[in-house]
Amino acid sequence: MIKIENLTKKFGKTVSLDAVSINFNRGDAVALMGANGAGKTTLIRLIMGYYHPTSGSVEINGLNPVKERVDILQSVSFVPQLPPPIKLSLAELISYICKSSGVKKEMIFEYAKEMKLDIIPNLNKSFFQLSGGMKQKFLIAVSLAKESDIMIYDEPTANLDPKARDDFYRLIKEKEKDKLSLFVTHRIEEVQDIVNRQIYMDLGKITTDEAC
Ligand SMILES: Nc1ncnc2c1ncn2[C@@H]1O[C@H](COP(=O)(O)OP(=O)(O)OP(=O)(O)O)[C@@H](O)[C@H]1O
Ligand SMILES: [Mg+2]
Repeated sequence: MIKIENLTKKFGKTVSLDAVSINFNRGDAVALMGANGAGKTTLIRLIMGYYHPTSGSVEINGLNPVKERVDILQSVSFVPQLPPPIKLSLAELISYICKSSGVKKEMIFEYAKEMKLDIIPNLNKSFFQLSGGMKQKFLIAVSLAKESDIMIYDEPTANLDPKARDDFYRLIKEKEKDKLSLFVTHRIEEVQDIVNRQIYMDLGKITTDEAC
Protein backbone atom coordinates (compact mmCIF):
# COMPACT_ATOMS: atom_id res chain seq x y z
CA MET A 1 0.00 0.00 0.00
CA ILE A 2 2.92 2.32 0.71
CA LYS A 3 5.99 2.01 -1.48
CA ILE A 4 9.09 4.00 -0.57
CA GLU A 5 12.17 3.97 -2.78
CA ASN A 6 15.52 5.49 -2.02
CA LEU A 7 13.88 8.31 -0.10
CA THR A 8 16.13 11.11 1.10
CA LYS A 9 15.20 14.33 2.87
CA LYS A 10 17.73 17.01 3.69
CA PHE A 11 17.19 20.25 5.57
CA GLY A 12 20.23 22.35 4.71
CA LYS A 13 23.15 20.15 5.68
CA THR A 14 21.10 17.90 7.96
CA VAL A 15 20.24 14.57 6.35
CA SER A 16 17.01 13.67 8.16
CA LEU A 17 16.23 10.68 5.99
CA ASP A 18 18.99 8.82 4.17
CA ALA A 19 18.06 6.73 1.10
CA VAL A 20 15.30 4.72 2.80
CA SER A 21 13.55 1.97 0.82
CA ILE A 22 10.66 0.09 2.42
CA ASN A 23 7.18 -1.21 1.65
CA PHE A 24 4.14 -1.33 3.93
CA ASN A 25 1.31 -3.71 3.05
CA ARG A 26 -2.28 -4.42 4.06
CA GLY A 27 -2.29 -6.34 7.34
CA ASP A 28 0.96 -4.76 8.53
CA ALA A 29 0.74 -3.27 12.01
CA VAL A 30 4.04 -1.55 12.48
CA ALA A 31 5.87 -0.10 15.48
CA LEU A 32 8.31 2.54 14.25
CA MET A 33 10.95 3.26 16.87
CA GLY A 34 14.26 5.02 17.34
CA ALA A 35 15.97 7.77 19.33
CA ASN A 36 14.85 11.41 19.28
CA GLY A 37 15.90 12.90 15.97
CA ALA A 38 16.24 9.52 14.20
CA GLY A 39 13.94 10.64 11.36
CA LYS A 40 10.63 8.98 12.28
CA THR A 41 8.45 12.07 11.99
CA THR A 42 10.28 13.13 8.82
CA LEU A 43 9.43 9.76 7.25
CA ILE A 44 5.76 10.10 8.29
CA ARG A 45 5.59 13.67 6.99
CA LEU A 46 6.97 12.55 3.62
CA ILE A 47 4.40 9.74 3.50
CA MET A 48 1.66 12.29 4.23
CA GLY A 49 2.94 14.66 1.53
CA TYR A 50 3.81 17.49 3.94
CA TYR A 51 7.39 17.51 2.64
CA HIS A 52 8.77 17.19 -0.88
CA PRO A 53 11.45 14.49 -1.04
CA THR A 54 14.98 15.75 -1.74
CA SER A 55 15.29 12.58 -3.84
CA GLY A 56 13.58 9.21 -4.17
CA SER A 57 9.86 8.52 -4.13
CA VAL A 58 6.79 7.67 -2.06
CA GLU A 59 3.63 6.09 -3.45
CA ILE A 60 0.41 5.45 -1.56
CA ASN A 61 -1.87 3.08 -3.44
CA GLY A 62 -0.07 4.18 -6.60
CA LEU A 63 -0.56 7.90 -5.90
CA ASN A 64 1.97 10.63 -5.20
CA PRO A 65 1.29 12.09 -1.74
CA VAL A 66 2.45 15.60 -2.68
CA LYS A 67 0.63 15.87 -6.01
CA GLU A 68 -2.47 13.83 -5.15
CA ARG A 69 -2.77 14.79 -1.51
CA VAL A 70 -6.51 15.40 -1.49
CA ASP A 71 -7.23 11.93 -2.89
CA ILE A 72 -4.84 10.30 -0.47
CA LEU A 73 -6.26 12.04 2.59
CA GLN A 74 -9.58 10.33 1.87
CA SER A 75 -8.10 6.91 2.63
CA VAL A 76 -5.68 7.80 5.43
CA SER A 77 -6.29 8.52 9.11
CA PHE A 78 -3.41 10.48 10.58
CA VAL A 79 -2.69 11.82 14.05
CA PRO A 80 0.44 14.01 14.09
CA GLN A 81 3.03 14.22 16.88
CA LEU A 82 2.10 17.85 17.54
CA PRO A 83 -1.53 18.93 17.16
CA PRO A 84 -2.03 21.63 14.53
CA PRO A 85 -2.77 25.18 15.85
CA ILE A 86 -6.42 25.29 14.80
CA LYS A 87 -8.40 28.35 15.87
CA LEU A 88 -11.85 27.04 14.91
CA SER A 89 -14.21 26.08 17.70
CA LEU A 90 -14.81 22.37 18.18
CA ALA A 91 -18.30 22.76 16.69
CA GLU A 92 -16.88 24.47 13.57
CA LEU A 93 -14.07 21.97 13.30
CA ILE A 94 -16.40 18.97 13.52
CA SER A 95 -18.66 20.43 10.88
CA TYR A 96 -15.65 21.15 8.62
CA ILE A 97 -14.28 17.60 9.04
CA CYS A 98 -17.66 16.02 8.31
CA LYS A 99 -18.14 18.12 5.15
CA SER A 100 -14.62 17.73 3.80
CA SER A 101 -13.98 14.05 4.47
CA GLY A 102 -17.39 12.45 4.85
CA VAL A 103 -16.82 11.41 8.46
CA LYS A 104 -20.06 10.86 10.38
CA LYS A 105 -20.58 13.33 13.22
CA GLU A 106 -22.18 10.65 15.42
CA MET A 107 -19.08 8.49 15.02
CA ILE A 108 -16.80 11.32 16.20
CA PHE A 109 -19.03 11.73 19.28
CA GLU A 110 -19.09 7.97 19.80
CA TYR A 111 -15.30 7.58 19.74
CA ALA A 112 -14.80 10.76 21.81
CA LYS A 113 -17.04 9.16 24.43
CA GLU A 114 -14.98 5.96 24.28
CA MET A 115 -11.86 8.11 24.83
CA LYS A 116 -13.58 9.88 27.79
CA LEU A 117 -13.57 13.24 26.04
CA ASP A 118 -16.70 15.20 26.80
CA ILE A 119 -17.31 17.16 23.59
CA ILE A 120 -20.61 18.91 24.38
CA PRO A 121 -19.35 21.29 27.12
CA ASN A 122 -16.38 22.19 24.91
CA LEU A 123 -18.19 22.81 21.62
CA ASN A 124 -17.68 26.57 21.75
CA LYS A 125 -14.05 26.37 22.82
CA SER A 126 -11.37 26.83 20.21
CA PHE A 127 -9.49 23.58 19.46
CA PHE A 128 -6.36 25.56 20.35
CA GLN A 129 -7.67 26.10 23.91
CA LEU A 130 -8.13 22.42 24.72
CA SER A 131 -5.56 20.76 26.96
CA GLY A 132 -2.81 18.71 25.28
CA GLY A 133 -4.49 15.42 26.16
CA MET A 134 -7.94 16.66 25.07
CA LYS A 135 -6.56 17.68 21.66
CA GLN A 136 -4.98 14.26 21.30
CA LYS A 137 -8.21 12.52 22.29
CA PHE A 138 -10.18 14.58 19.78
CA LEU A 139 -7.76 13.83 16.93
CA ILE A 140 -7.81 10.13 17.85
CA ALA A 141 -11.64 10.14 17.89
CA VAL A 142 -11.68 11.66 14.38
CA SER A 143 -9.06 9.18 13.13
CA LEU A 144 -11.16 6.26 14.36
CA ALA A 145 -14.44 7.72 13.08
CA LYS A 146 -12.95 8.01 9.60
CA GLU A 147 -13.20 4.75 7.67
CA SER A 148 -9.60 4.50 6.45
CA ASP A 149 -7.48 1.68 5.08
CA ILE A 150 -4.31 3.30 6.36
CA MET A 151 -3.91 4.57 9.92
CA ILE A 152 -0.82 6.50 10.94
CA TYR A 153 -0.12 7.65 14.51
CA ASP A 154 2.96 9.65 15.49
CA GLU A 155 3.40 9.14 19.25
CA PRO A 156 -0.37 9.13 19.83
CA THR A 157 -0.24 8.39 23.53
CA ALA A 158 2.47 10.86 24.53
CA ASN A 159 -0.05 13.27 26.13
CA LEU A 160 -2.57 10.72 27.33
CA ASP A 161 -3.25 9.63 30.88
CA PRO A 162 -2.82 5.87 31.53
CA LYS A 163 -6.56 5.14 31.25
CA ALA A 164 -6.80 6.96 27.91
CA ARG A 165 -3.77 5.01 26.64
CA ASP A 166 -5.54 1.75 27.42
CA ASP A 167 -8.72 3.04 25.75
CA PHE A 168 -6.77 4.01 22.64
CA TYR A 169 -5.11 0.61 22.26
CA ARG A 170 -8.38 -1.23 22.95
CA LEU A 171 -10.13 0.75 20.19
CA ILE A 172 -7.23 0.26 17.77
CA LYS A 173 -7.30 -3.48 18.37
CA GLU A 174 -10.95 -3.56 17.31
CA LYS A 175 -10.25 -1.48 14.18
CA GLU A 176 -6.93 -2.49 12.73
CA LYS A 177 -7.86 -5.78 11.07
CA ASP A 178 -7.15 -5.87 7.30
CA LYS A 179 -5.70 -2.37 7.34
CA LEU A 180 -2.24 -0.93 7.41
CA SER A 181 -1.42 0.70 10.72
CA LEU A 182 1.75 2.47 11.71
CA PHE A 183 2.58 3.62 15.24
CA VAL A 184 5.57 5.76 16.09
CA THR A 185 6.39 5.01 19.69
CA HIS A 186 9.13 5.02 22.31
CA ARG A 187 7.38 2.33 24.35
CA ILE A 188 7.45 -1.04 22.64
CA GLU A 189 5.75 -2.69 25.63
CA GLU A 190 2.65 -0.57 24.96
CA VAL A 191 2.21 -1.71 21.37
CA GLN A 192 3.51 -5.27 21.59
CA ASP A 193 -0.03 -6.68 21.52
CA ILE A 194 -1.15 -4.76 18.46
CA VAL A 195 1.84 -4.85 16.11
CA ASN A 196 3.28 -7.61 13.91
CA ARG A 197 6.32 -5.74 12.62
CA GLN A 198 9.00 -3.71 14.42
CA ILE A 199 11.17 -1.17 12.69
CA TYR A 200 14.03 0.78 14.26
CA MET A 201 15.54 3.91 12.77
CA ASP A 202 18.81 5.64 13.55
CA LEU A 203 20.42 8.65 11.89
CA GLY A 204 17.86 8.70 9.07
CA LYS A 205 18.22 5.03 8.18
CA ILE A 206 16.28 1.87 8.95
CA THR A 207 18.49 -0.33 11.09
CA THR A 208 16.08 -3.17 11.95
CA ASP A 209 12.91 -4.41 10.25
CA GLU A 210 11.54 -7.65 11.64
CA ALA A 211 8.30 -9.54 12.19
CA CYS A 212 7.18 -9.99 15.78
N1 LIG B 1 11.34 21.17 9.17
C1 LIG B 1 12.59 20.88 9.55
N2 LIG B 1 13.60 21.76 9.35
C2 LIG B 1 14.87 21.47 9.73
N3 LIG B 1 15.23 20.29 10.27
C3 LIG B 1 14.28 19.38 10.48
C4 LIG B 1 12.91 19.62 10.14
N4 LIG B 1 12.19 18.50 10.45
C5 LIG B 1 13.06 17.65 11.00
N5 LIG B 1 14.31 18.15 11.01
C6 LIG B 1 15.54 17.48 11.51
O1 LIG B 1 15.51 16.14 11.07
C7 LIG B 1 16.02 15.26 12.08
C8 LIG B 1 14.96 14.18 12.35
O2 LIG B 1 13.84 14.78 12.97
P1 LIG B 1 12.47 13.98 13.21
O3 LIG B 1 11.47 14.95 13.70
O4 LIG B 1 12.15 13.22 11.98
O5 LIG B 1 12.91 12.97 14.36
P2 LIG B 1 12.05 11.91 15.19
O6 LIG B 1 12.69 10.57 14.96
O7 LIG B 1 10.63 12.05 14.89
O8 LIG B 1 12.37 12.36 16.71
P3 LIG B 1 11.40 12.44 18.02
O9 LIG B 1 11.47 11.06 18.66
O10 LIG B 1 12.11 13.47 18.88
O11 LIG B 1 10.05 12.87 17.61
C9 LIG B 1 16.36 16.13 13.28
O12 LIG B 1 17.73 16.42 13.23
C10 LIG B 1 15.54 17.40 13.03
O13 LIG B 1 16.14 18.53 13.59
MG1 LIG C 1 8.97 12.62 15.95
